[in-house]
Amino acid sequence: MNIQNRYAIVTGASRGLGASISGVLAEAGAIVFGLGRSAEDLTSIKEKIGESFRPVVCDVRSSDSVNRAMEQVFAQSGGQIDVLINNAGLGKFGAIEQMAEEDWEVQVDTNLKGVFLCTKAVVPRMKRQNAKSGFGGHIINIASVAGLVGNPKIGIYNATKFGLRGFSESLMLELRNDGIKVTCVYPGSIETAFFNNTGFPSGSNHKMHPNEIAQTILHLLQTHDNYLISEIVLRPLRPKGVM
Ligand SMILES: NC(=O)c1ccc[n+]([C@@H]2O[C@H](COP(=O)([O-])OP(=O)(O)OC[C@H]3O[C@@H](n4cnc5c(N)ncnc54)[C@H](OP(=O)(O)O)[C@@H]3O)[C@@H](O)[C@H]2O)c1
Repeated sequence: MNIQNRYAIVTGASRGLGASISGVLAEAGAIVFGLGRSAEDLTSIKEKIGESFRPVVCDVRSSDSVNRAMEQVFAQSGGQIDVLINNAGLGKFGAIEQMAEEDWEVQVDTNLKGVFLCTKAVVPRMKRQNAKSGFGGHIINIASVAGLVGNPKIGIYNATKFGLRGFSESLMLELRNDGIKVTCVYPGSIETAFFNNTGFPSGSNHKMHPNEIAQTILHLLQTHDNYLISEIVLRPLRPKGVM
């Protein structure tokens, strides 16, 4: 896809990886609708990126909030949407007996239900685009290496990211003949605020930079319309750093 003047939605765009992806896509010529819960944080990202970043306040856990956000997006894009990056996500880590029901709910609702709600909202548009032009669009789901390998004390997060893998594979097979690409991305540790909010500091001490992941996302989007990278694993080469 030529990303120039394309309409993209990035969830969790108010900081971290989502902010980096938004910046890289905007720089490449896309119009980016950045979703997040904090209007203030989204505004500060707009100040950095510029006019091609359009902040949209949205809590991806709520169907009402997602539907309202999508109405705003479609009103501004004339109903066109070419790219959805399902990036919003969080982890709550700790021994299983210390995990509360709310820890389960917030992770499952954000990391899985949010992806379902945003995907469901854009797929009919992408199918219509395919019927008109022969290409529907591209959905990219940000999972994690934690969607491929289990680790102690991150069981709920593991469950959501393993779940996202299954959802992505099913979607990929379901939508490929509608001209819609689906890619699941599995990054290792990235230098963002993510680990500060897990309640259990972990991850590599030599993390990847979010802009490196964002450049890979741009490459995925720019591949030929008949070329689908359905899964990709990204890791720091030396997670413990060079001694
Ligand atoms: N950092 C890592 O090492 C790492 C590794 C592998 C995968 N990942 C995945 O990468 C993605 C991005 O994480 P990050 O590292 O950039 O974390 P981050 O810096 O904590 O950013 C998370 C983003 O998600 C948004 N978000 C959280 N809950 C939301 C909700 N209910 N509705 C809308 N937006 C919501 C946050 O904005 P608000 O709080 O303002 O809403 C924020 O913009 C996540 O899916 C994460 O699981 C991260």
